[in-house]
Amino acid sequence: MDSILVTGNGPLNGQIPIAGAKNACLTLMPATLLSEEPLTLTNAPRLSDIKTMTALLQSLGAEVSSLQDGQVLAMSSHDLTSHTADYEIVRKMRASNLVLGPLLARFGQAVVSLPGGCAIGARPMDLHVEGLEALGAEIELKDGYLHAKTTGGLKGAVHEMRFASVGATENIVMAATLAKGTTVLKNAAREPEIVDLVECLRKMGAQISGEGTSTIEIQGVDRLHGATHQVVTDRIELGTYMLAPAMCGGEVELLGGHMKLVESFAAKLDAAGVSVEQTDKGLKVARKNGRVNSVDVVTEPFPGFPTDLQAQMMALMCTADGTSVLEERIFENRFMHAPELVRMGANIEVHGGTATVTGVERLKGAPVMATDLRASVSLILAGLAAEGETTVSRVYHLDRGYEHVVRKLEGVGAKIERIKDL
Ligand code: EPZ
Repeated sequence: MDSILVTGNGPLNGQIPIAGAKNACLTLMPATLLSEEPLTLTNAPRLSDIKTMTALLQSLGAEVSSLQDGQVLAMSSHDLTSHTADYEIVRKMRASNLVLGPLLARFGQAVVSLPGGCAIGARPMDLHVEGLEALGAEIELKDGYLHAKTTGGLKGAVHEMRFASVGATENIVMAATLAKGTTVLKNAAREPEIVDLVECLRKMGAQISGEGTSTIEIQGVDRLHGATHQVVTDRIELGTYMLAPAMCGGEVELLGGHMKLVESFAAKLDAAGVSVEQTDKGLKVARKNGRVNSVDVVTEPFPGFPTDLQAQMMALMCTADGTSVLEERIFENRFMHAPELVRMGANIEVHGGTATVTGVERLKGAPVMATDLRASVSLILAGLAAEGETTVSRVYHLDRGYEHVVRKLEGVGAKIERIKDL
């Protein structure tokens, strides 16, 4: 397993290009199952999760061609050979469950393995099942697989979700595009990735309104046609790299960044003493003073503070002036980066879903281990600002969500290299 060696190397200056959003692409790709015509995605990120979703769609019989070094995905699901998403693929990536809604809508049947838990939590699928059952699906759990079918097709319905689940919103909205009649989905998630999905579905002929609000209305249509869609900028990669100059000093411009994608995050950075300025190329970020102030964070569904930036924000708070309290309200076990940061000299106390961080002057480089995707990059950020060398092992986690990390950080002056596991 490869590792990444980072050496604290002072301020960072320059530009970092931000890729297309992993979490938008992972719901846009299954949308191809809704139409027999081709769907092409541009600005796709080059990530292992995208390769996993490609393999899943191909296992169903869809054609997926990766063009222009992976930035274009040309897909077609004219002739499927299977409606089963196998455990072997689903266990590697929970987002595989996003084929459930489209398969049900177009073919009236789907067999999707339960993803099983992952490092950050149990992550059940009850909200997906409840929403699809409201549309008339019959879903049975057997041998770890959800067996779903509809007799006579899905029917529109009014359904209120108990929690604003991102994935459940995406599955239900995709299924409703081909249901008979109108669906009103209440307490829908409002993430930009959902807005991006709806914009793509609309290009395919779907009749949808309300995306980005808590109530999404879908008028079912008989069929959807092909389309070409540009994947929205990745707000989590954007937020992650905004923290690099915040932690190390200097000034970095994040190309393609837009304030509307990271409003609550940028507000927290501003309160911590980090300036974020919208330019015509992206977001320009720099510390206002020598040391950031501690701020408190509570993770919430969009537009609140994103859980996917909690680990990275904790890394910043490790060297802030003062004590900050980070409350993780979305997942039940998303502080595994904390003990690794403590190895680097951080002062963190975790009690249940709350972590209290008392800032220290500077972290010290150490060998640390990545435990999940966002934790892995928080350790790299900490290593950029720490004194000495930090080796982050198990970087396969990183490859799931960050393309060309070494190249992007080297480009702004970081001392970082990937150590191939011989
Ligand atoms: C999406 O996961 C993202 N993944 C996650 O990003 C992100 O952390 C999460 O949304 C929250 O923003 C993708 O978009 C591919 P949820 P998802 O359904 O859809 C519980 C990353 O790092 N829940 O909103 O799975 C669940 O257990 C990943 O890129 C149920 O209880 O998130 C969790 O505690 C990590 N029942 C909470 O809701 C359900 O049926 C949020 O889950 C579904 C979810």
